[in-house]
Amino acid sequence: MHVIRRKGWEIPESQVTPEAVAMNRRSLLKGVGAAGLMLAGGRAAMANDPAPTDNLHPYARNAAYTVEREITPEAITSRYNNFYEFGTSKGIWGEAQALKTRPWTIKIDGLVEKPMEIGVDDLIAAMPREERVYRFRCVEAWGMTVPWSGFGMKAFLDLAKPLGSAKYVRMETFLDPRQAPGQRQIWYPWPYVEAVTIAEAANELAFLVTGIYGKSLPKQYGAPIRLALPWKYGFKSIKSIRKITFTEERPKSFWEQLQAAEYGFWANVNPEVAHPRWSQATEEVLGQNRRIPTLLFNGYGDYVADLYKGLEKERLWA
Ligand code: MTE
Repeated sequence: MHVIRRKGWEIPESQVTPEAVAMNRRSLLKGVGAAGLMLAGGRAAMANDPAPTDNLHPYARNAAYTVEREITPEAITSRYNNFYEFGTSKGIWGEAQALKTRPWTIKIDGLVEKPMEIGVDDLIAAMPREERVYRFRCVEAWGMTVPWSGFGMKAFLDLAKPLGSAKYVRMETFLDPRQAPGQRQIWYPWPYVEAVTIAEAANELAFLVTGIYGKSLPKQYGAPIRLALPWKYGFKSIKSIRKITFTEERPKSFWEQLQAAEYGFWANVNPEVAHPRWSQATEEVLGQNRRIPTLLFNGYGDYVADLYKGLEKERLWA
């Protein structure tokens, strides 16, 4: 994703990644290939902070959520990330190792029966854990297929017990500019925030992720806990969640605050609705030198299309 300077903003031109540069980086990545990436990885330490729930992996795969696409190799997905807290390049996996992921608590507040703060390992231990293979489609027109480990957001809602008046779930990433240099860039509206409706959160596909490839989530993917909403563009899948708040009013997400004309609240995948600056009809398969057609709701329409009945007047697609 890249940011266009809005009137009145203080974004130095040098901080803005032109699409052409981003595209060149991608070609470079493709050229290097998995073997080269592994070599590069070998030089940098990539170790998670040890956690008492590490040995709960691997979680059993739920056969209901497999896809016909090949799983994207870890060597590719672990070296090509969006994590603006650590910088805007796709190669920020190394910088992201500075993130301290234990101890880690999640605050649950707003319109709930009883606000609480829960340790992430207590939460993981209490939830019905499983692995699901999901497609993932970034708004930048690339896609991957990954085996996420975690638990359904519905199980989390059952624990959090939102009140009947709650209409939205607002999620917030950590805020610590000492650890995350990107957060020193004051033109971004930190912390990263995302939100979904209660109905979307209760949909069976909404998944809170604590692992990938059969082990605890490495830091660059948004450890220790992130979201996966496979029918929406990837920016909705917020990383490193610290706070979950139930609200009556629709929250404004990070990207909406930054660039509402390009990144809206709903952000459902639709190949027929172009981003203002590029087509969404096809996607680059990460790590392979080819593009494939993008599917409506990223192929998950059977699960989610009903959520949007009666909302046709809303800007449902990005
Ligand atoms: N969450 C936070 N906190 N910060 C981010 O920069 N980037 C988003 C999303 N969640 C982002 C985030 C975007 S644009 C994408 S495409 C995905 O995370 C990338 O996830 P990945 O790095 O695991 O592929």
